[in-house]
Amino acid sequence: MTNRTDTREWDAGAYDTLNAPMTARGNDAVARLELRGDETVLDAGCGTGEVTATLLERLPRGHAIALDGSRAMLDAARERFAADARVSFLHADLGEPLTGPLGGARVDAIVSTSTFHWVRDHDALFRHLAGALTPGGQLVVDCGGAGNIAAVLDALRALGHHEHPWTYAGVGETEARLRAAGFDRTDVRLVPRTTRFESDEQLERFLTSVVLRTFVTELGDEAGGALVRDVAARLPAREIRWVRLEVVARLSDAGAAA
Ligand SMILES: C[S@@+](CC[C@H](N)C(=O)[O-])C[C@H]1O[C@@H](n2cnc3c(N)ncnc32)[C@H](O)[C@@H]1O
Repeated sequence: MTNRTDTREWDAGAYDTLNAPMTARGNDAVARLELRGDETVLDAGCGTGEVTATLLERLPRGHAIALDGSRAMLDAARERFAADARVSFLHADLGEPLTGPLGGARVDAIVSTSTFHWVRDHDALFRHLAGALTPGGQLVVDCGGAGNIAAVLDALRALGHHEHPWTYAGVGETEARLRAAGFDRTDVRLVPRTTRFESDEQLERFLTSVVLRTFVTELGDEAGGALVRDVAARLPAREIRWVRLEVVARLSDAGAAA
């Protein structure tokens, strides 16, 4: 049973009707993986599994581990892949070491899309990822980066909300974190993208269930709905401007840093 006041939980049904921008970016990230087709790949923050499905097209003889911290999201992914023996499921928190949840096993690659900005401590996050990878293993990431949804943050501040749940990291600090964790071949960049909405209702639905989800959960439907409308009204256009942090990295052949 999903707890509606738990900010780790997502409305998986609503997410599946709104996921087009995340799926497009996620599919681009999967395309950046170098795969033979028989590897084991961890999808870190798989959500309902839309991007995992694209990953599985690249793994005809391989295995995907679909990991998520939201039970509702993971249940939706479990249902989607019920008949696919190539997928296993893991309810785990990326803020914690992954060696326990993975039972000490290591994966050939990790892909993560639209997730890492929800994790507070990126130093620890990259250490946990390195600890879960085989030496020379790949990491491919898309997540919100420095400058992401700046107009939404401006609107939130103007409405008195100075705290937010996201970590929007830049290139230099991410490169330093990767190297400290043991990655030695790194390509990190910030890439602008824009999602345009056809109606105020579409924009407000997206803000409610994706971008401002934790605010709405904490404030409740009435006050949360008012916040969503106020933020939407303050945006300069009916669009969300993203700045994505894109990472392609390889763990050193010696493995994770001690
Ligand atoms: C916006 S969704 C992205 C889902 C999917 N990767 C996609 O691109 O559609 C973010 C996902 O990250 C998960 N997530 C956020 N923080 C997490 C954490 N600390 N540990 C595990 N999963 C987390 C959420 O539960 C959610 O399913």
